[in-house]
Amino acid sequence: MNYKLARSNYRHMVAGVDTKIPLFNGKFVTAINFDNAASTPPLVSVMEEINRFSTMYSSIHRGTGYKSKVSSQFYDEARSIVLKFVNADPLRDTCIFVKNTTEAINKLSYRLWEGNKKTVILSTWMEHHSNDLPWRNKFHVDYVQTDPYGKLSIEDLENKLIKHKGNVKLVAVTGASNVTGYVNPIHKIAELAHRYQAKILVDGAQLVPHNTVNMNPQNPFQHIDFLAFSAHKMYAPFGIGVLIGPQETFNKGVSEFTGGGTAEIVTHDWVVWENTPYKEEAGSPNVMGVVALVAAIKTLTAVGMRSIDYHENQLTNYANQMLKSIPGITLYSHTLPGEPRIGVIPFNIKGIPHERVATILSNEAGIAVRTGCFCTQPYIQKLLSISPQQMEHHRKSRNAPRPGIVRLSFGIYNDYSEINTLGQVLEKICKHPTTYIY
Ligand code: ALA
Repeated sequence: MNYKLARSNYRHMVAGVDTKIPLFNGKFVTAINFDNAASTPPLVSVMEEINRFSTMYSSIHRGTGYKSKVSSQFYDEARSIVLKFVNADPLRDTCIFVKNTTEAINKLSYRLWEGNKKTVILSTWMEHHSNDLPWRNKFHVDYVQTDPYGKLSIEDLENKLIKHKGNVKLVAVTGASNVTGYVNPIHKIAELAHRYQAKILVDGAQLVPHNTVNMNPQNPFQHIDFLAFSAHKMYAPFGIGVLIGPQETFNKGVSEFTGGGTAEIVTHDWVVWENTPYKEEAGSPNVMGVVALVAAIKTLTAVGMRSIDYHENQLTNYANQMLKSIPGITLYSHTLPGEPRIGVIPFNIKGIPHERVATILSNEAGIAVRTGCFCTQPYIQKLLSISPQQMEHHRKSRNAPRPGIVRLSFGIYNDYSEINTLGQVLEKICKHPTTYIY
Protein backbone atom coordinates (compact mmCIF):
# COMPACT_ATOMS: atom_id res chain seq x y z
CA MET A 1 0.00 0.00 0.00
CA ASN A 2 1.19 3.51 -0.72
CA TYR A 3 0.79 4.94 2.75
CA LYS A 4 1.42 8.48 1.57
CA LEU A 5 -1.69 8.42 -0.64
CA ALA A 6 -4.05 5.95 0.98
CA ARG A 7 -7.34 7.50 2.04
CA SER A 8 -9.89 5.91 4.31
CA ASN A 9 -12.63 3.99 2.50
CA TYR A 10 -15.04 5.29 5.12
CA ARG A 11 -14.25 8.99 4.76
CA HIS A 12 -17.30 9.82 2.66
CA MET A 13 -19.53 8.41 5.40
CA VAL A 14 -18.64 11.12 7.91
CA ALA A 15 -19.88 14.74 7.90
CA GLY A 16 -17.42 17.63 7.79
CA VAL A 17 -14.26 15.75 6.84
CA ASP A 18 -13.43 18.26 4.10
CA THR A 19 -14.12 21.40 6.14
CA LYS A 20 -11.44 24.06 5.69
CA ILE A 21 -10.21 25.90 8.75
CA PRO A 22 -7.74 28.81 9.15
CA LEU A 23 -4.18 28.34 10.39
CA PHE A 24 -2.25 30.86 12.47
CA ASN A 25 -0.74 32.29 9.26
CA GLY A 26 -4.19 32.88 7.76
CA LYS A 27 -4.01 30.08 5.18
CA PHE A 28 -6.88 27.60 5.02
CA VAL A 29 -6.39 23.81 5.25
CA THR A 30 -8.64 20.78 5.62
CA ALA A 31 -9.21 20.18 9.34
CA ILE A 32 -7.67 17.02 10.78
CA ASN A 33 -9.43 15.58 13.80
CA PHE A 34 -7.47 13.23 16.04
CA ASP A 35 -9.77 13.73 19.02
CA ASN A 36 -12.33 11.03 18.40
CA ALA A 37 -12.07 9.55 21.88
CA ALA A 38 -13.65 12.74 23.18
CA SER A 39 -16.39 12.97 20.56
CA THR A 40 -16.85 11.95 16.95
CA PRO A 41 -18.41 13.97 14.14
CA PRO A 42 -21.80 12.71 12.94
CA LEU A 43 -22.16 10.16 10.20
CA VAL A 44 -23.79 11.40 7.01
CA SER A 45 -26.43 8.69 7.50
CA VAL A 46 -27.15 10.06 10.97
CA MET A 47 -27.72 13.58 9.61
CA GLU A 48 -29.93 12.21 6.82
CA GLU A 49 -31.99 10.19 9.26
CA ILE A 50 -32.37 13.15 11.63
CA ASN A 51 -33.72 15.19 8.73
CA ARG A 52 -35.94 12.39 7.46
CA PHE A 53 -37.41 11.59 10.87
CA SER A 54 -37.98 15.26 11.71
CA THR A 55 -41.02 15.24 9.43
CA MET A 56 -42.63 12.57 11.61
CA TYR A 57 -41.30 13.74 15.00
CA SER A 58 -43.83 14.29 17.74
CA SER A 59 -44.33 13.93 21.51
CA ILE A 60 -44.10 10.31 22.56
CA HIS A 61 -45.91 7.85 24.84
CA ARG A 62 -48.96 9.88 25.79
CA GLY A 63 -49.56 11.70 22.53
CA THR A 64 -52.57 10.46 20.58
CA GLY A 65 -51.85 11.83 17.10
CA TYR A 66 -50.54 9.68 14.27
CA LYS A 67 -47.05 11.20 14.46
CA SER A 68 -46.96 10.58 18.22
CA LYS A 69 -47.78 6.93 17.65
CA VAL A 70 -45.04 6.59 15.00
CA SER A 71 -42.50 8.37 17.20
CA SER A 72 -43.45 6.30 20.28
CA GLN A 73 -43.21 3.06 18.36
CA PHE A 74 -39.85 4.03 16.92
CA TYR A 75 -38.47 5.00 20.36
CA ASP A 76 -39.54 1.76 22.02
CA GLU A 77 -38.49 -0.50 19.15
CA ALA A 78 -35.07 1.16 19.18
CA ARG A 79 -34.35 -0.59 22.49
CA SER A 80 -34.28 -3.98 20.73
CA ILE A 81 -31.94 -2.65 18.05
CA VAL A 82 -29.54 -1.40 20.73
CA LEU A 83 -29.74 -4.66 22.72
CA LYS A 84 -29.06 -6.68 19.57
CA PHE A 85 -26.05 -4.52 18.62
CA VAL A 86 -24.18 -5.66 21.75
CA ASN A 87 -25.83 -9.09 21.96
CA ALA A 88 -27.61 -8.35 25.23
CA ASP A 89 -30.20 -10.86 26.41
CA PRO A 90 -33.60 -9.47 25.30
CA LEU A 91 -35.42 -11.49 27.96
CA ARG A 92 -33.14 -10.61 30.86
CA ASP A 93 -31.90 -7.14 29.98
CA THR A 94 -33.42 -3.72 29.62
CA CYS A 95 -32.10 -0.78 27.61
CA ILE A 96 -32.43 2.53 29.44
CA PHE A 97 -31.85 5.71 27.46
CA VAL A 98 -29.81 8.34 29.32
CA LYS A 99 -27.71 11.35 28.28
CA ASN A 100 -24.31 9.67 28.16
CA THR A 101 -22.04 7.12 29.85
CA THR A 102 -21.55 9.39 32.86
CA GLU A 103 -25.27 9.54 33.51
CA ALA A 104 -25.60 5.79 32.94
CA ILE A 105 -22.97 4.97 35.58
CA ASN A 106 -24.39 7.51 38.03
CA LYS A 107 -27.81 5.92 37.57
CA LEU A 108 -26.44 2.46 38.21
CA SER A 109 -24.59 3.66 41.30
CA TYR A 110 -27.89 4.92 42.78
CA ARG A 111 -29.77 1.77 41.81
CA LEU A 112 -27.19 -0.58 43.37
CA TRP A 113 -26.76 1.53 46.51
CA GLU A 114 -27.83 -0.20 49.72
CA GLY A 115 -27.86 2.87 51.95
CA ASN A 116 -24.52 2.21 53.65
CA LYS A 117 -20.89 2.22 52.63
CA LYS A 118 -20.12 -1.39 53.59
CA THR A 119 -20.58 -2.90 50.17
CA VAL A 120 -17.48 -2.97 47.99
CA ILE A 121 -17.14 -1.79 44.40
CA LEU A 122 -13.93 -2.72 42.63
CA SER A 123 -13.01 0.07 40.25
CA THR A 124 -9.55 0.18 38.67
CA TRP A 125 -6.55 2.48 38.35
CA MET A 126 -7.31 3.05 34.70
CA GLU A 127 -10.88 4.32 35.01
CA HIS A 128 -12.29 7.56 33.69
CA HIS A 129 -13.60 9.69 36.59
CA SER A 130 -17.11 8.69 35.46
CA ASN A 131 -16.44 5.12 36.52
CA ASP A 132 -14.85 6.15 39.81
CA LEU A 133 -16.45 9.25 41.36
CA PRO A 134 -20.11 8.07 41.22
CA TRP A 135 -19.19 5.05 43.35
CA ARG A 136 -17.21 6.91 46.02
CA ASN A 137 -19.99 8.44 48.12
CA LYS A 138 -22.11 5.28 48.24
CA PHE A 139 -19.73 2.33 48.44
CA HIS A 140 -16.37 1.27 49.75
CA VAL A 141 -14.28 1.58 46.57
CA ASP A 142 -11.08 -0.35 46.04
CA TYR A 143 -8.96 0.10 42.91
CA VAL A 144 -7.46 -2.79 40.96
CA GLN A 145 -3.81 -2.11 40.17
CA THR A 146 -2.19 -1.60 36.80
CA ASP A 147 1.26 -2.89 35.87
CA PRO A 148 4.23 -0.62 35.01
CA TYR A 149 2.92 -0.26 31.43
CA GLY A 150 -0.50 0.80 32.72
CA LYS A 151 -2.21 -2.50 31.84
CA LEU A 152 -4.80 -3.91 34.21
CA SER A 153 -3.49 -6.56 36.61
CA ILE A 154 -5.86 -9.52 36.50
CA GLU A 155 -3.85 -11.06 39.34
CA ASP A 156 -4.58 -8.04 41.54
CA LEU A 157 -8.25 -8.21 40.56
CA GLU A 158 -8.47 -11.78 41.84
CA ASN A 159 -6.51 -10.88 44.99
CA LYS A 160 -8.95 -8.08 45.72
CA LEU A 161 -11.98 -10.31 45.07
CA ILE A 162 -10.50 -12.79 47.57
CA LYS A 163 -9.57 -10.07 50.08
CA HIS A 164 -13.11 -8.70 50.20
CA LYS A 165 -14.59 -12.18 50.88
CA GLY A 166 -17.76 -12.10 48.83
CA ASN A 167 -18.55 -8.45 49.65
CA VAL A 168 -17.77 -7.13 46.19
CA LYS A 169 -21.04 -6.19 44.55
CA LEU A 170 -19.62 -5.00 41.26
CA VAL A 171 -16.41 -4.91 39.27
CA ALA A 172 -16.63 -1.60 37.39
CA VAL A 173 -14.10 -1.67 34.59
CA THR A 174 -13.51 0.14 31.35
CA GLY A 175 -13.72 -1.88 28.14
CA ALA A 176 -10.91 0.19 26.63
CA SER A 177 -8.81 2.97 28.11
CA ASN A 178 -9.39 6.53 26.90
CA VAL A 179 -5.74 7.26 27.77
CA THR A 180 -3.66 4.30 26.58
CA GLY A 181 -6.12 2.55 24.27
CA TYR A 182 -5.57 -0.78 26.05
CA VAL A 183 -8.52 -3.14 25.67
CA ASN A 184 -9.37 -5.06 28.82
CA PRO A 185 -10.25 -8.78 28.69
CA ILE A 186 -13.84 -8.13 29.75
CA HIS A 187 -15.02 -11.73 29.47
CA LYS A 188 -12.15 -13.05 31.57
CA ILE A 189 -12.86 -10.30 34.12
CA ALA A 190 -16.57 -11.20 34.06
CA GLU A 191 -15.79 -14.86 34.74
CA LEU A 192 -13.60 -13.92 37.69
CA ALA A 193 -16.18 -11.49 39.08
CA HIS A 194 -18.95 -14.08 38.82
CA ARG A 195 -16.77 -16.72 40.51
CA TYR A 196 -16.70 -14.43 43.55
CA GLN A 197 -20.45 -13.60 43.38
CA ALA A 198 -19.84 -10.12 41.99
CA LYS A 199 -21.37 -8.59 38.87
CA ILE A 200 -19.53 -6.65 36.19
CA LEU A 201 -20.16 -3.24 34.65
CA VAL A 202 -18.26 -2.47 31.47
CA ASP A 203 -17.78 1.22 30.74
CA GLY A 204 -18.10 0.84 26.99
CA ALA A 205 -17.66 4.52 26.07
CA GLN A 206 -14.39 3.85 24.26
CA LEU A 207 -14.93 0.23 23.24
CA VAL A 208 -18.42 0.12 21.73
CA PRO A 209 -17.65 2.58 18.87
CA HIS A 210 -14.50 0.73 17.79
CA ASN A 211 -14.93 -2.98 18.39
CA THR A 212 -17.51 -5.75 18.65
CA VAL A 213 -18.99 -5.96 22.13
CA ASN A 214 -20.71 -9.22 22.99
CA MET A 215 -22.57 -9.17 26.31
CA ASN A 216 -23.41 -12.87 26.01
CA PRO A 217 -20.52 -14.96 24.72
CA GLN A 218 -20.85 -18.75 24.52
CA ASN A 219 -19.52 -19.30 28.02
CA PRO A 220 -22.42 -18.13 30.25
CA PHE A 221 -20.06 -17.39 33.16
CA GLN A 222 -18.48 -14.71 30.98
CA HIS A 223 -21.61 -12.65 30.36
CA ILE A 224 -21.52 -8.91 30.93
CA ASP A 225 -24.11 -7.79 33.48
CA PHE A 226 -24.11 -4.05 32.80
CA LEU A 227 -22.90 -2.00 29.85
CA ALA A 228 -22.85 1.79 29.45
CA PHE A 229 -21.96 3.83 26.38
CA SER A 230 -22.47 7.19 24.64
CA ALA A 231 -23.74 7.88 21.14
CA HIS A 232 -21.65 11.05 20.77
CA LYS A 233 -18.52 8.87 20.66
CA MET A 234 -20.06 6.70 17.94
CA TYR A 235 -20.88 9.29 15.30
CA ALA A 236 -24.30 10.27 16.67
CA PRO A 237 -23.76 13.40 18.81
CA PHE A 238 -27.37 14.18 19.73
CA GLY A 239 -27.29 13.79 23.51
CA ILE A 240 -28.14 10.14 23.99
CA GLY A 241 -26.45 7.37 25.94
CA VAL A 242 -27.34 3.86 27.01
CA LEU A 243 -27.40 1.76 30.16
CA ILE A 244 -28.06 -1.94 29.65
CA GLY A 245 -28.55 -4.36 32.51
CA PRO A 246 -30.91 -6.94 34.02
CA GLN A 247 -34.49 -5.70 34.29
CA GLU A 248 -34.72 -7.04 37.84
CA THR A 249 -32.07 -4.54 39.02
CA PHE A 250 -34.39 -1.69 38.04
CA ASN A 251 -37.76 -3.31 38.80
CA LYS A 252 -37.33 -2.80 42.52
CA GLY A 253 -36.83 0.61 44.10
CA VAL A 254 -37.14 4.07 42.66
CA SER A 255 -35.01 5.91 40.13
CA GLU A 256 -32.64 8.68 41.29
CA PHE A 257 -34.65 11.09 39.12
CA THR A 258 -38.43 11.02 39.21
CA GLY A 259 -41.07 13.11 37.50
CA GLY A 260 -42.88 13.04 34.19
CA GLY A 261 -43.14 9.62 32.59
CA THR A 262 -41.95 7.68 35.65
CA ALA A 263 -45.26 7.14 37.46
CA GLU A 264 -48.50 5.41 36.49
CA ILE A 265 -50.73 6.61 39.36
CA VAL A 266 -49.94 9.50 41.71
CA THR A 267 -51.89 10.75 44.73
CA HIS A 268 -50.52 13.00 47.42
CA ASP A 269 -50.21 9.91 49.61
CA TRP A 270 -48.78 7.24 47.31
CA VAL A 271 -47.33 6.48 43.89
CA VAL A 272 -47.50 3.50 41.57
CA TRP A 273 -44.36 3.62 39.50
CA GLU A 274 -44.22 2.82 35.80
CA ASN A 275 -42.57 -0.39 34.66
CA THR A 276 -38.90 -0.65 33.74
CA PRO A 277 -37.45 1.06 31.68
CA TYR A 278 -40.00 3.93 31.72
CA LYS A 279 -39.59 4.56 35.45
CA GLU A 280 -35.87 5.19 34.81
CA GLU A 281 -36.34 7.85 32.12
CA ALA A 282 -37.73 10.92 33.86
CA GLY A 283 -38.82 13.82 31.66
CA SER A 284 -39.50 13.98 27.94
CA PRO A 285 -37.37 11.37 26.20
CA ASN A 286 -34.73 12.38 23.66
CA VAL A 287 -36.34 10.81 20.59
CA MET A 288 -34.05 12.51 18.07
CA GLY A 289 -31.04 11.29 20.03
CA VAL A 290 -32.34 7.75 19.66
CA VAL A 291 -32.99 8.32 15.93
CA ALA A 292 -29.33 9.30 15.61
CA LEU A 293 -28.10 6.34 17.65
CA VAL A 294 -30.12 3.82 15.63
CA ALA A 295 -28.85 5.29 12.36
CA ALA A 296 -25.27 5.04 13.63
CA ILE A 297 -25.75 1.45 14.77
CA LYS A 298 -27.11 0.52 11.34
CA THR A 299 -24.21 2.14 9.51
CA LEU A 300 -21.51 0.79 11.82
CA THR A 301 -23.05 -2.69 11.57
CA ALA A 302 -23.13 -2.45 7.77
CA VAL A 303 -19.46 -1.43 7.70
CA GLY A 304 -18.69 -4.17 10.22
CA MET A 305 -17.11 -3.63 13.63
CA ARG A 306 -14.24 -5.93 12.66
CA SER A 307 -13.42 -3.81 9.63
CA ILE A 308 -13.52 -0.68 11.77
CA ASP A 309 -11.23 -2.27 14.34
CA TYR A 310 -8.86 -3.40 11.57
CA HIS A 311 -8.69 0.01 9.90
CA GLU A 312 -8.12 1.87 13.16
CA ASN A 313 -5.48 -0.63 14.26
CA GLN A 314 -3.59 -0.20 11.00
CA LEU A 315 -3.62 3.57 11.50
CA THR A 316 -2.48 3.18 15.10
CA ASN A 317 0.43 0.92 14.17
CA TYR A 318 1.48 3.32 11.42
CA ALA A 319 1.29 6.35 13.72
CA ASN A 320 3.12 4.49 16.50
CA GLN A 321 6.01 3.59 14.19
CA MET A 322 6.21 7.17 13.02
CA LEU A 323 6.18 8.60 16.56
CA LYS A 324 8.85 6.11 17.65
CA SER A 325 11.13 7.32 14.87
CA ILE A 326 11.06 10.96 16.04
CA PRO A 327 13.70 11.75 18.67
CA GLY A 328 12.26 13.54 21.69
CA ILE A 329 8.88 11.78 21.76
CA THR A 330 7.88 9.61 24.72
CA LEU A 331 5.03 7.15 24.20
CA TYR A 332 2.91 5.98 27.12
CA SER A 333 1.20 2.90 25.69
CA HIS A 334 2.97 -0.26 24.67
CA THR A 335 1.24 -3.21 23.08
CA LEU A 336 2.67 -6.39 21.64
CA PRO A 337 1.82 -7.29 18.03
CA GLY A 338 -1.72 -8.67 17.96
CA GLU A 339 -2.58 -7.39 21.43
CA PRO A 340 -6.02 -5.79 21.33
CA ARG A 341 -6.15 -2.01 21.47
CA ILE A 342 -8.19 0.88 20.19
CA GLY A 343 -6.79 3.78 18.20
CA VAL A 344 -5.61 5.94 21.08
CA ILE A 345 -1.96 7.06 21.39
CA PRO A 346 -0.69 9.10 24.35
CA PHE A 347 2.65 10.91 24.07
CA ASN A 348 4.72 13.87 25.19
CA ILE A 349 7.60 15.81 23.65
CA LYS A 350 10.58 16.25 25.91
CA GLY A 351 10.83 19.78 27.25
CA ILE A 352 7.61 21.09 25.67
CA PRO A 353 4.42 21.36 27.73
CA HIS A 354 1.57 19.20 26.43
CA GLU A 355 -0.78 22.15 25.91
CA ARG A 356 1.85 23.91 23.81
CA VAL A 357 2.29 20.89 21.54
CA ALA A 358 -1.47 20.89 20.97
CA THR A 359 -1.53 24.62 20.20
CA ILE A 360 1.28 24.28 17.66
CA LEU A 361 -0.43 21.31 15.95
CA SER A 362 -3.62 23.32 15.63
CA ASN A 363 -1.99 26.61 14.57
CA GLU A 364 0.45 25.09 12.09
CA ALA A 365 -1.55 22.27 10.49
CA GLY A 366 -5.15 22.42 11.68
CA ILE A 367 -4.72 19.22 13.68
CA ALA A 368 -7.05 18.78 16.66
CA VAL A 369 -5.81 16.62 19.52
CA ARG A 370 -6.62 16.62 23.22
CA THR A 371 -4.21 17.24 26.06
CA GLY A 372 -4.25 17.06 29.82
CA CYS A 373 -5.58 14.19 31.88
CA PHE A 374 -8.78 13.30 29.97
CA CYS A 375 -10.85 13.00 33.18
CA THR A 376 -8.59 10.12 34.20
CA GLN A 377 -6.25 11.85 36.62
CA PRO A 378 -5.12 9.01 38.93
CA TYR A 379 -4.12 6.90 35.89
CA ILE A 380 -2.14 9.79 34.36
CA GLN A 381 -0.47 10.44 37.72
CA LYS A 382 0.65 6.82 37.70
CA LEU A 383 1.78 6.80 34.05
CA LEU A 384 3.79 10.00 34.62
CA SER A 385 5.08 8.84 38.05
CA ILE A 386 3.68 11.92 39.78
CA SER A 387 3.94 11.54 43.54
CA PRO A 388 1.20 12.32 46.09
CA GLN A 389 3.48 15.16 47.30
CA GLN A 390 3.52 16.67 43.82
CA MET A 391 -0.28 16.40 43.69
CA GLU A 392 -0.46 18.20 47.07
CA HIS A 393 1.61 20.96 45.48
CA HIS A 394 -0.92 21.20 42.63
CA ARG A 395 -3.75 21.32 45.13
CA LYS A 396 -2.15 24.31 46.86
CA SER A 397 -0.85 26.09 43.74
CA ARG A 398 -3.86 25.92 41.49
CA ASN A 399 -2.20 28.07 38.83
CA ALA A 400 0.93 25.91 38.54
CA PRO A 401 1.24 24.14 35.16
CA ARG A 402 -0.67 20.87 35.35
CA PRO A 403 0.79 17.51 34.37
CA GLY A 404 -0.65 15.92 31.29
CA ILE A 405 -0.21 14.11 28.02
CA VAL A 406 -1.01 14.75 24.36
CA ARG A 407 -3.51 12.25 22.99
CA LEU A 408 -4.23 11.15 19.44
CA SER A 409 -7.41 9.18 18.92
CA PHE A 410 -8.57 7.86 15.58
CA GLY A 411 -11.92 7.26 13.94
CA ILE A 412 -13.04 5.40 10.82
CA TYR A 413 -12.53 8.42 8.56
CA ASN A 414 -8.91 9.19 9.54
CA ASP A 415 -6.21 8.13 7.12
CA TYR A 416 -2.51 7.79 6.52
CA SER A 417 -2.08 11.12 4.77
CA GLU A 418 -3.33 12.88 7.89
CA ILE A 419 -0.84 10.97 10.00
CA ASN A 420 1.92 11.96 7.58
CA THR A 421 1.00 15.61 8.09
CA LEU A 422 1.10 15.09 11.85
CA GLY A 423 4.54 13.47 11.56
CA GLN A 424 5.93 16.40 9.58
CA VAL A 425 4.78 18.94 12.17
CA LEU A 426 5.96 16.84 15.12
CA GLU A 427 9.40 16.47 13.55
CA LYS A 428 9.59 20.22 13.12
CA ILE A 429 8.51 20.86 16.71
CA CYS A 430 11.12 18.43 18.03
CA LYS A 431 13.91 19.87 15.86
CA HIS A 432 13.08 23.58 16.23
CA PRO A 433 10.98 23.99 19.37
CA THR A 434 11.70 27.72 19.68
CA THR A 435 10.58 28.81 16.20
CA TYR A 436 6.94 29.29 17.18
CA ILE A 437 6.07 32.81 18.25
CA TYR A 438 2.73 32.16 19.98
N1 ALA B 1 -13.42 12.01 28.76
C1 ALA B 1 -13.51 12.18 27.37
C2 ALA B 1 -12.14 11.96 26.76
O1 ALA B 1 -11.53 10.98 27.04
C3 ALA B 1 -14.03 13.52 27.06
O2 ALA B 1 -11.69 12.76 26.02
